[in-house]
Amino acid sequence: MNRGPFIFLGVLIILVFSWTTVILKPNQEVGQLLAILDDDQGGRLPRELQGAAQHGKEIYQELGCIACHTQQVRVAAGTDIERGWGNRQSVARDYIDQDRVLLGRKRLGPDLSNVGERRPDVAWHLLHLYNPQINSRGSNMPAYSFLFDTREIVGSPSSRAMELPEAFSPPEGFEVIPTRKAESLAAYMLSLKVDYDLNEAPKSPETMADELAIALENAE
Ligand code: HEC
Repeated sequence: MNRGPFIFLGVLIILVFSWTTVILKPNQEVGQLLAILDDDQGGRLPRELQGAAQHGKEIYQELGCIACHTQQVRVAAGTDIERGWGNRQSVARDYIDQDRVLLGRKRLGPDLSNVGERRPDVAWHLLHLYNPQINSRGSNMPAYSFLFDTREIVGSPSSRAMELPEAFSPPEGFEVIPTRKAESLAAYMLSLKVDYDLNEAPKSPETMADELAIALENAE
C-alpha cells in the first residue's frame, strides 16, 4: 500500500497546527498592541528608551546579564511583588518597543524590571558594577571592573573618578574612571522602571488602595 499521501497529510497537519498555535494565535492576541497616550501618567506608555540607556541595553546583552536576571514581574505566587521587584504584573504591552525582549529564564539575582525605581542612584550602580562587594557584600554577582579604566592621575584628579572605599581603592596616584560602556549600562539600569499602570494589567496594591480611598471619600 502506498502510504505517501498519509505521511504527507500527517506532516501537513503538524505544520499547520504548530504554525497556528505558535505564530498565528499569539500574533492575533498581542501582535496588534500599540502604545497608549496617557497624560495623567506622563505621556506615552510604555516609556521609550532614550540615548545612553539604549546603548546600555546593548552592553547588557553583550555581557550576558540575562544569564542571572529576568525582566518580568509575575504574580502567579504573589511573590515577585512581595519581594519588592515591581508594583504590578508585567503585561505584553510593556514590551512592545523592544526589538529584543530580555525576559530571561534564570533568577540568580533579582528581577530588574523595576530596578530604576528601587535603586535610583547612578553612583550605586557604578560601584556595584565595579565590584558588587562594595555595596552588596557577599553578592554572587561577578565584578565588571573591566568596564572601568584604572589610570595614573596626571595633574589634578578627574571629576569623573570613582569614590571607592579604602579596601577597593587603586594604588596611590591612580584613579578609576568608568568607561562609556559602564555609564551606559548604569543609565539602562536607571531607565528600567514600570512606574505606570495599564488598563489590562492587574493594578498595583498602592493604586488599588488609592482608588478605594477616593471611592470611599466620594461615597461619604
Ligand atoms: C552570575 C550571576 C549574575 C550575573 C551574570 C549578573 N548578576 Fe547582577 N546580581 C546577581 C546577584 C546574585 C545579585 C544580588 C546581590 C547583589 O545585589 O549584588 C545581583 C544584583 C544586581 C543588581 C541589584 C538589584 C537590586 O535589586 O538590588 C543589579 C542592578 C544587577 N545585578 C545588574 C547586573 C548587570 C547589569 C549585569 C551584567 C553586566 C549583571 N547584573 C550580571 C547575579 C548576577
